[in-house]
Amino acid sequence: MAKFSKDKKTILSGIKPSGELTLGSYIGAIRNWASLQSDYNCIYCIADMHAITVRQDPALLRKRTLIQLAQYIACGIDPDKNVLFIQSHVPAHAELGWVLNCYTMVGELNRMTQFKDKSARHADNINAGLYDYPVLMAADILLYQADLVPVGEDQKQHVEICRDIARRFNGIYGNVFTLPDPYIPSVGARVMSLADPESKMSKSEDDSGCILLLDRPEDIMARFKRAVTDSETEIRYDPVSKKGISNLISIYSAVTGKSIPDVEREFAGCGYGSFKQTVGEAVVELLRPMREETERLLADRAYLNTVLASGADQAARIAARTLGKVYKKVGFYTADK
Ligand code: TRP
Repeated sequence: MAKFSKDKKTILSGIKPSGELTLGSYIGAIRNWASLQSDYNCIYCIADMHAITVRQDPALLRKRTLIQLAQYIACGIDPDKNVLFIQSHVPAHAELGWVLNCYTMVGELNRMTQFKDKSARHADNINAGLYDYPVLMAADILLYQADLVPVGEDQKQHVEICRDIARRFNGIYGNVFTLPDPYIPSVGARVMSLADPESKMSKSEDDSGCILLLDRPEDIMARFKRAVTDSETEIRYDPVSKKGISNLISIYSAVTGKSIPDVEREFAGCGYGSFKQTVGEAVVELLRPMREETERLLADRAYLNTVLASGADQAARIAARTLGKVYKKVGFYTADK
C-alpha cells in the first residue's frame, strides 16, 4: 500500500479507458507519472465514469479498464508507491460531483472547447454527462486536495475551471479545497498521428497512424514505414513546415533520451525510409517489455484485483475526509453520533 507523506505535494491524474493506451499516452503522460512517484504522493484513476459520456461497448469497457490497470503497472507505476484505482469504485466522485454542480455556472461550461468539439463529433448523443464532464473531473481532483494535475494541453481548460469552482466554493465556505495547478510536461508532451501529423495521436478516433502499447512489432513497423512526411529529403526539426518528420524526431528523442539537435546530427544525410525504420525499431524495443509485462499481469487477475481493492480503499479514505467537510459546509444534516 502506498505510504503518503505530509511533506510531499499530491498529484492526481487519470485517463479514460475509452480506448487502449497509445504511444502518445505513454510518452506524454504515463512515463512522467512513473518519474514522479518518489517525490510526490501520487493518485491515478482509471476514469471509467468519464468514458461513458461517449457510448461504449460494456464488455469492451470492462476489458479495457483492466488492461489499463495492467499497463499502468507495466509502465512502471508501482502500486506500492502510488494509489491506483477505478473511478467508479469510489462513490465520492459522483457525490462530490453533484455538489460541485451547484457551484458551477452554465455559462462556464458553455465555454469548454472540448464540449464544443465532442458535441460536434457526437451530434447524435449530446448528453448531459458530456456537458458536465468538467465538473466530475473537478471532483476527481478536489477530493484528494491535489496540488498538481499532470495533463496534456487539451485538458488545461478543465483544470482551470476546476480552480474556478474551488475558488468559488472556498470564497463562500472558507478553505475547503486546495487550488490545483496543471502540470504540463515540457518534453514529448504531444505525439502526433503518424498518418496525419496535424492532429494528436488518438485512441478513440479512427486513427490509422496510432501506435497502441500492445501493438505487435510488425504492425508498429508497418505504421512507421507509412508515416506521412514531406516531399523534401532533409531530416530537420521544423514543426511548422515539416510536421511529420518533426514528429518522428521528437518520438525518437523521447524514446532514446537523445536531444533533438543530436538526433538531427545522427541522421544528417540519411534518407527518410531508413530514418522511419530506425524510429520504428526503437519504438518496438521500448514497447516490447511493457507488452510482455502487461500480458503477464493480465494473466494474474487475482493480483490485479488486490491492487484495485487496496487502491479504492485508500482513495475512498482520503476522499471521505473532503466529502465530509463539504457536506458539513453546505448544510447537510448528519445524525448525532
Ligand atoms: N479528462 C481527462 C482526459 O481526457 C481524464 C481525466 C478524468 C482526468 N479525470 C481526471 C485527468 C482528473 C486529470 C485529472 O485526458
